[in-house]
Amino acid sequence: MSAVPATEIAEVTALTLEGSGVLAPAGKRVLVPGALAGEEVTFQRRRRRRNYDEGVLLEVRRSSPDRVTPACEYFGRCGGCSLQHLAPDAQLAMKQSTLLDSLARISSVAPDQLLPPVRGAIWGYRRKARLAVRHVERKGRVLVGFREAEKPWVVDMLRCATAEPAISGLIEPLSVLIGKLSIRARLPQVEATVADNATALVFRVLDPPTPADRDELRAFAARHGVRVYLQPGNPESVAPLDPGGAGEDLHYRLPAFDLTLTFGPTDFIQVHGEVNRMMVDQALRLLAPAATDRVLDLYCGIGNFTLPLARHAGEVVGLEGAAAAVHRGRQNATLASLAHAHFVEADLAGAGVEGAWTRERFDLVLLDPPRTGAAELLPALGRIGARRIVYVSCHPGTLARDAGLLVREHGYRLASAGVMDMFPHTSHVESMALFERA
Ligand SMILES: C[S@@+](CC[C@H](N)C(=O)[O-])C[C@H]1O[C@@H](n2cnc3c(N)ncnc32)[C@H](O)[C@@H]1O
Repeated sequence: MSAVPATEIAEVTALTLEGSGVLAPAGKRVLVPGALAGEEVTFQRRRRRRNYDEGVLLEVRRSSPDRVTPACEYFGRCGGCSLQHLAPDAQLAMKQSTLLDSLARISSVAPDQLLPPVRGAIWGYRRKARLAVRHVERKGRVLVGFREAEKPWVVDMLRCATAEPAISGLIEPLSVLIGKLSIRARLPQVEATVADNATALVFRVLDPPTPADRDELRAFAARHGVRVYLQPGNPESVAPLDPGGAGEDLHYRLPAFDLTLTFGPTDFIQVHGEVNRMMVDQALRLLAPAATDRVLDLYCGIGNFTLPLARHAGEVVGLEGAAAAVHRGRQNATLASLAHAHFVEADLAGAGVEGAWTRERFDLVLLDPPRTGAAELLPALGRIGARRIVYVSCHPGTLARDAGLLVREHGYRLASAGVMDMFPHTSHVESMALFERA
């Protein structure tokens, strides 16, 4: 690339989920972060890739009607959000198109019915956040926040507009606290979770804190009314700062089902509490379990869908790979007196693919796999032949692949599908699809 790149003008033809405008001027395609579809912009090429160049936005000459002013002062630098400059309705429309395009392009399938988007608060929604920590000698302070979009550095931030206020308000105090600790250069991450009954902070510590560090952490916990945990090794090593001082279990409520779900400070919980409640309602509406039904819940976690299903179905079996989540699921079933909800530990990418569940009768199935999807499980689901399957997905590409297999090879019809706004302003697309036995 020459020392002074030429300034070019072009029309933006599309927008990527990562928030870059796609320009196709004469020559090679260019991706320009911050430019929106339909706009005319001035830009410079900064970096050449094999199939496209990366550009930098200089000026928006003709603005999109969907352009809005980002609410957060760190937008553009912070890697947490990429779509704040796009109006919320347009964000959801893009995510819906991504879902439908993926289904069509990857598997040539289309839902019979499009579900209206599930949506809730778009600011202050994030009840779980992994905050990176970096002691920067040059600045003489500790940075706590998300990583930069373009670089592996931690953004110098004082708040986060998408985090629940209980997390956002701790970013600056955490920076001050960690700056006082002797192990400040050996503390790379704080995982924050807002439960309905407490806020939990898990400090990843590469060296043990000294007694003085422990006093600082204790004082911080008391001052901010938070629970402090230390994680010296893998997730199983997480323990309260003061053994015996953890208090009652963290929990969130699903009032529509009169359920309290307890969980550990590093267990998976859905990021957006309000959208989660609507998502569970929708899944139950689509599956419509009857009192005689046996239901299978794959990748069930702590029982977020398993226990609501058990309020209506005859029996529910939840399969999950994380032992701690299985333990919580059982505890949550006992708390709710749902003895017909069973939790089984199974690696659904390993031996669990051929587990005993594949030879049992199930009338209905719910699955909520990680981003990689569930292709290995589909032959077993085809044999089980449940009358309805609800698939909850955090990756439209793998959902589309699996939808194609269910429809073409395993006797299902894609009855409906839609998106859920679980992660407003970010590139993540959460969706739900209902399959019915053809
Ligand atoms: C998207 S979360 C859904 C959890 C739960 N359905 C909920 O709504 O809270 C995916 C779950 O799959 C589990 N998981 C990931 N890989 C797995 C595997 N290979 N076998 C079994 N479970 C797995 C994770 O531990 C996590 O609990």
